[in-house]
Amino acid sequence: MGTGFLACLLAVVMLLRCSTSQQPNTDEFFVADFIRKMGVEVASLSDGSSSSVCSWKMVSCDDRKEKVIALVASGLGLSGPIPENTIGKLSMLKTLDLSGNNITGFSSDIWGLGSSLRSLNLASNQMKGALPNNLGNFGELESLNLSHNDFSGEMPVTLGSLSSLRFLNLSGNRFEGIIPDSFLGCRSLVSIDLSGNRLNGTVPDGFSDALKNLRFLDLSGNEINGRLPDLSGLDSVTYLNLSGNSFQGSVLGVFRETMQVIDLSNNQFQGHVSQVNLSSSYNWSSLVYLDLSVNELSGEFFHDLGRARSLRHLNLAFNRFSHQNFPMLEQLSGLEYLNLSKTSLTGQIPTEISKLVGLKTLDLSQNHITGHIPDLSIKNIQVLDLSTNNLTGEIPQPLLDELPNMISFNFSYNNLTLCAAKFSPQTFNTAFVGSQNDCPIAANPDLIRTKGAKYKALKLALAITLSVFFLIAGLVCLAFGFRKRTRSWAVKQLSIKEEPSVSGPFSFQTDSSTWVADVKSATSVPVVIFEKPLLNFTFADLLTATSHFDRGTLLAEGKFGPVYRGFLPGGIHAAVKVLVHGSTVTEQEAAKELERLGRIKHPNLVPLTGYCLAGDQRIAIYDYMENGNLQNLLHDLPLGVQATEDWSTDTWEEDTGTIQSITTEGLTTWRFRHKIALGAARALAFLHHGCYPQIVHRDVKASSIYLDSALEPRLSDFGLSRIVGASLEDEISRGSPGYAPPEFCESENVSATTKSDVYGFGVVLFELITGKKPLGDDYPEERETTLVSWARTLVRKNQASKVIDPKIRETGSETRMEEGLRIAYLCTADLPSKRPSMQQIVGLLKDIEPMAADLLK
Ligand SMILES: *[C@@H]1O[C@H](CO)[C@@H](O)[C@H](O)[C@H]1NC(C)=O
Ligand SMILES: *[C@@H]1O[C@H](CO)[C@@H](O)[C@H](O)[C@H]1NC(C)=O
Ligand SMILES: *[C@@H]1O[C@H](CO)[C@@H](O)[C@H](O)[C@H]1NC(C)=O
Ligand SMILES: *[C@@H]1O[C@H](CO)[C@@H](O)[C@H](O)[C@H]1NC(C)=O
Ligand SMILES: *[C@@H]1O[C@H](CO)[C@@H](O)[C@H](O)[C@H]1NC(C)=O
Ligand SMILES: *[C@@H]1O[C@H](CO)[C@@H](O)[C@H](O)[C@H]1NC(C)=O
Ligand SMILES: *[C@@H]1O[C@H](CO)[C@@H](O)[C@H](O)[C@H]1NC(C)=O
Ligand SMILES: *[C@@H]1O[C@H](CO)[C@@H](O)[C@H](O)[C@H]1NC(C)=O
Ligand SMILES: *[C@@H]1O[C@H](CO)[C@@H](O)[C@H](O)[C@H]1NC(C)=O
Ligand SMILES: *[C@@H]1O[C@H](CO)[C@@H](O)[C@H](O)[C@H]1NC(C)=O
Ligand SMILES: *[C@@H]1O[C@H](CO)[C@@H](O)[C@H](O)[C@H]1NC(C)=O
Repeated sequence: MGTGFLACLLAVVMLLRCSTSQQPNTDEFFVADFIRKMGVEVASLSDGSSSSVCSWKMVSCDDRKEKVIALVASGLGLSGPIPENTIGKLSMLKTLDLSGNNITGFSSDIWGLGSSLRSLNLASNQMKGALPNNLGNFGELESLNLSHNDFSGEMPVTLGSLSSLRFLNLSGNRFEGIIPDSFLGCRSLVSIDLSGNRLNGTVPDGFSDALKNLRFLDLSGNEINGRLPDLSGLDSVTYLNLSGNSFQGSVLGVFRETMQVIDLSNNQFQGHVSQVNLSSSYNWSSLVYLDLSVNELSGEFFHDLGRARSLRHLNLAFNRFSHQNFPMLEQLSGLEYLNLSKTSLTGQIPTEISKLVGLKTLDLSQNHITGHIPDLSIKNIQVLDLSTNNLTGEIPQPLLDELPNMISFNFSYNNLTLCAAKFSPQTFNTAFVGSQNDCPIAANPDLIRTKGAKYKALKLALAITLSVFFLIAGLVCLAFGFRKRTRSWAVKQLSIKEEPSVSGPFSFQTDSSTWVADVKSATSVPVVIFEKPLLNFTFADLLTATSHFDRGTLLAEGKFGPVYRGFLPGGIHAAVKVLVHGSTVTEQEAAKELERLGRIKHPNLVPLTGYCLAGDQRIAIYDYMENGNLQNLLHDLPLGVQATEDWSTDTWEEDTGTIQSITTEGLTTWRFRHKIALGAARALAFLHHGCYPQIVHRDVKASSIYLDSALEPRLSDFGLSRIVGASLEDEISRGSPGYAPPEFCESENVSATTKSDVYGFGVVLFELITGKKPLGDDYPEERETTLVSWARTLVRKNQASKVIDPKIRETGSETRMEEGLRIAYLCTADLPSKRPSMQQIVGLLKDIEPMAADLLK
C-alpha cells in the first residue's frame, strides 16, 4: 500500500507542477502568477484533479474555457499589493472578489479592467491611502465594495461617473471631507453604505431627485450635519440609518410609506413630534424598526404610534419630551424591543403591557413612573430595566425567578421591596442599587447555605445515638400516648363547656368555639397553600385537621396566639397559628403580607406554608417542626422531647411514629450547640441583611428556635408583627423576659431594632454555652439574678471557663467555647451601637466552628 500511495502522490504533484507552469500571456498564467506572487502556494488551491485554471473552484471562465470572467479569491491569505501584469491583464474579467485578504494596494494596470468589470469586492483588506480617481474608468461597474479597509482622504469625484453602479459599500474606512456633489451622478444606486467614516458637511442637494432607485441608505457613524436629506422623491427607500451624526431639524420628513427601518439615533434632531399628526399622510403600516433615541425631540410621543402594527423595535430613549403618560402600545403585538428610557414618563405602567407577549427587552429606566410593577409575566423577556423611577410595592416574584429567558434585570433606585434568597451577591450589588438605606446589601452567600459534607458526618454520629435512644423514647411515647388518648376523648366531648384559659407571657383566651362559630360556611373559606395551589383546601379542612381547634391539638400559646397541630390531607403536617386579632390591616393587606412571608425562604427559617383568612381570624400555617424547640431541649424535658414552657405536656399521640427525638447526648455536644447558634445567626443575618426592607424579628429567644426533622435549627415567628394589632406589636416589641435589652427598660418609646435582635441572640448564645435559663436559674459563682449579668461578669473577669455547661465541656475545644462566650458578651453590650451586626456574628461563629477532632467526641 505504501508504495502505491507514494506513486499516486507523486503523480498528483507532477500534475500540479505542470498546471502552474502555464503558457505565458494566457489568463491561466495571469491567475496562477497572481496567486503565487501574493504568497500563496498554487498547489494548495487546486483540487489536484485537473491542470486547467478554469476548473478551479474560485475561477469561472467563458464558454470556450479560455478567458477568466470571474475570480473569487476570498480569504486565502493573499498579501501585499496586487502585482503588475497579473489580474490586471484578465481582459474579460467581470467579477473580482478578493475580500478578506491582506491586500495593501492596487496595481497600475488594474484600471485597465474598466471596460469589462461589473463587480469589485476588496472588502476587509488593508488597502491604504487615497482612493485614486482612476476609479472613474470602471464605467460598467455595478457593485463596488471597498468596506473595512484603511482608505483615507476624500471620496474621489470621479465616483460620479459610475452611472451603472447599483451597490456601493465604502463603510469602515477613514474617508473624510464632504460627500461630493458629483456623487449624484451614480443614478443607478440602490444601496449606499458610507457608514463608519469621517465624512462631514451636508448631504448634497438634489439627492432625492438624483437617486430615484435608492432603497438602502446608511450614512451612520460620520460627522455629517445639516437637515435630514430630502427624501420626497425616494419612493422605494426602505432602510435609512443616519445614526451617530450631527443632523438637526425635524424628523417628520422621514416618515414615508415604504420605510421599514428608520434609525436616526444619536443626532441633534429637534422639535415636537406630536405637533403634527402623521395620520393624514402616513399610515405606519410598513415600519418595523424605529430608533429616535438620543436626540433633542420635545413635546409628546406620536399620538398615532399605536398604528405601527409591524413594529418590532422602538427606541425613543433619551430625548427632551415633556411629561407624559405611558403611551398606548398594546396593539403593537409584534414588539420585541421597547426602550422608553428617560422620556419623562409619569403615572403607572399599564397592565396592558403584558399583552406584548413577544417583548424581549423593556427599558423604562430614568422616568418618573409611580405605582406598583404590574404583572409582567412575559415569557420571552430577557432584559428588564426599571431602574431610577418612583415605583413602590413588591417586585412580583415571577419577574425574579420564573421567567425562563430573563438574562438581566435592574430595579435600582426605586422604592421597591424585595425578599428573596436566590441572587448572587453580584446581582444584589448591581440590580438593586440605591434602594432606601442602600438596602438590600449584598447577601452573604454563606447565608444561603447548602448542606455540606461536614454536616453529614454529624448526622451519622447522631444517627447512631438516636437508634439506641428510640428504644427508650418509644417506650416513653407509648406511656404518654395512652394517657393522651383517653383524655382527648374526654376533651372533645366537653370542649365547649370546659375551657381552661392558658396563661403564658401574653394571655389569650383560647375559647375557639366562639370564633369558629363566627365563620359562617367553613367550606367556602379557602385555605391557601403556596406550594400546592391545586389542593383547594377550605377552612373546613383546618377544622377537621385540628379537631375544631380542640385543646387536644394545642401545641403552644405563643405571644401571637395559640398554635395547633394538624394533619391536612395530602400528608401536610402543619402547625396552625391563629393570630391574635386587633389588627387594623385589611384582609387584602394581611393576605399580601402573608403571601410575602411565604416567599421568604431560608434553610434556617421555619417556612410559612400557607394561610387562611376566616372571618376576623388570620391563620398562618407553618411546616410542623418535628423536633421541638430549643427551650424544650435545653431546659424543659430531660429527654429533649417536645413541649415548651407553655406547651401542654400532654400533646402526645401514639400515632406519631415519625417524631424524632434528640438524645441528651446529642444536645450535649459543643458541636451541636454551635450548629444551632450558627443556624440561628444565619437566619437573623438573612432577615436583617438579605431582605429588603429588612425584617426585625422582635422576639429572639430559645423557644423561637426550632429543630426540623433533619435537626437543622430554624427560626420561627418572623415578620408577623405587621399582621397582628398595633397594641400587641408594642407588647411584642418589649421582648420576652430575660431576652429584652436594657434600652427597653429605660424608655417606653424605644422600638425594636436589629440591635435588639442581636441582644436576644446573645442571650440565646449564653444559654447554649452555659446550659442555664436566662432567668431564675441557679447562677453559682455570684449573687446574680440573670444569666446575662452572671455570665458577663465572669467573662469580664476572664473567668469565662467557669460558666461553660459541664455537660459540653469535654466535647470540644474549651478555648472555642470561651470565644463563643465572648461573642455573646459582645452581643449583650449595654449600648446597642456596641453590638456587632448579625453578619459579623455569623463570621465570628464560623471562626470557632468545632474542629474535625471534636466530631467523634
Ligand atoms: C494578514 O496579515 C497578518 C500579519 O501581517 C496576519 O496576522 C493575518 O492573519 C493576515 N490576515 C489574513 C486574512 O490573511
Ligand atoms: C461587501 O463585502 C462584505 C464582506 O465580504 C459583505 O459582507 C457585504 O455584503 C458586501 N456588500 C456589498 C454591498 O457588496
Ligand atoms: C458593507 O460591508 C460591511 C462589511 O464589509 C458589511 O457589514 C455591510 O453589511 C455592508 N453593507 C451593505 C449594505 O451590504
Ligand atoms: C470636514 O473635514 C475636513 C477634513 O477632516 C476638515 O478640513 C473640514 O474643516 C471639516 N469641515 C467641517 C465643516 O467640519
Ligand atoms: C445604524 O448604524 C449604527 C452604527 O453603524 C448601528 O449600530 C445600528 O445598528 C444601525 N441601525 C440599524 C437599524 O441597522
Ligand atoms: C390625528 O388624526 C386622527 C385621524 O385624522 C385623529 O383621529 C386624531 O385625533 C388626530 N390626533 C391629533 C393629536 O391631532
Ligand atoms: C398603508 O399604506 C400602504 C401603502 O400605501 C397600503 O398598501 C396599505 O394597505 C395601507 N394600510 C392601511 C392599514 O391603511
Ligand atoms: C435604551 O436606549 C439608550 C439610549 O440609546 C441606551 O443607552 C440603552 O442601553 C438602551 N437600553 C437597552 C436595554 O437597550
Ligand atoms: C420620586 O418622588 C420624590 C418625591 O415625590 C421626588 O422627589 C423624586 O424626584 C422622584 N424621583 C423620580 C426619579 O421621579
Ligand atoms: C416608599 O414607599 C413607602 C410605602 O410603600 C412610603 O411610605 C415611603 O414614603 C416611600 N419612600 C419614598 C422615598 O418615596
Ligand atoms: C442598574 O441601574 C443603576 C442605575 O442606573 C446602575 O447604577 C447599575 O449599574 C445598573 N445595574 C446593572 C446591572 O445594569
